[in-house]
Amino acid sequence: MAEFPQVRLHRLRRWEQLRKMIAETEINAGDFIYPLFVASGHGIKREIGSMPGIFQLSTDLLAKEVEEIARLGIPAVILFGLPETKDELGSEAYSPQGVIQKAIPTVKEAVPDLVVVTDVCLCEYTSHGHCGIIVEGHVDNDRTLEILGKIAHSHAAAGADMVAPSDMMDGRVKAIREALDADGFHTTPIMSYAAKYASSFYAPFREAAECAPQFGDRRSYQMDPPNVREALREVAQDIAEGADIVMVKPALAYLDVIRKVRDTFNHPLAAYNVSGEFAMVKAAAQKGWLDERAVTLEILSAIKRAGADIIITYHAKEAARWLRSH
Ligand code: PBG
Repeated sequence: MAEFPQVRLHRLRRWEQLRKMIAETEINAGDFIYPLFVASGHGIKREIGSMPGIFQLSTDLLAKEVEEIARLGIPAVILFGLPETKDELGSEAYSPQGVIQKAIPTVKEAVPDLVVVTDVCLCEYTSHGHCGIIVEGHVDNDRTLEILGKIAHSHAAAGADMVAPSDMMDGRVKAIREALDADGFHTTPIMSYAAKYASSFYAPFREAAECAPQFGDRRSYQMDPPNVREALREVAQDIAEGADIVMVKPALAYLDVIRKVRDTFNHPLAAYNVSGEFAMVKAAAQKGWLDERAVTLEILSAIKRAGADIIITYHAKEAARWLRSH
């Protein structure tokens, strides 16, 4: 009896409402975090060449932007800063007058219940573009930890709701947790970029955040793309150090990693649908080679189906609109 022609899987696919009733995965605007690139200065709205529709925005233009994000039902933003000045130590990253430290209160004032996540890293702030302090030509992991703690603390002190270290130094979640707790920020969660790969899909982001390394690459600290067992070790380590949410990045080329992490751990899981993944879809859509709406919703569903609870995506605003008119 459990065979064709009695069994016909087509029966449940015959019309839209029925398909929706049995859908195993549903994406919502509530799953998304929208990245924002905050520029120093005034009146700046600069489109990123390789990311159509994504802008560097100065703080004075943020209020309008985050009001729109909230109206679309997107619960959170993640902030990346373009500092006024860069130096060897990335000192603007933890300055109380830094670009992010000034942006946070502006966003919170405009939309108090929008969750403000901040990216904690040095690469946008260092003259050499690396995610850590350079000693004798190499990133010095342990020296970097103290600075990461300072950055995270300065974000929390400015009112950030969550900090997200993306540097991939060993031991940074612990260092950040200690720096936060030492000053009473026990309730500030850490979303760690736990399994972050040394990926070529970050190229458009480096244009957006002006943070390409000036020498070498990030392969000595970010993960090697062929590895998945190692990702589980990274995630386990960050959980042991106190991460509240763990992340896999990139997302689309790493769906197997997302699934493995989901099946192995019980922590909330975020996935970063990165700049290169966004740029590929945009470019193909501009050429008329792909239907942007259909492909984007398919990609976001796939990331969620693989096991992500939260998706960081440059398509958040468009997807939220498309999902409304679905
Ligand atoms: C900073 C950082 C990067 C991204 C997020 N945080 C770039 C990198 O590590 O080189 C990439 C995001 C994207 O491509 O959308 N360390």
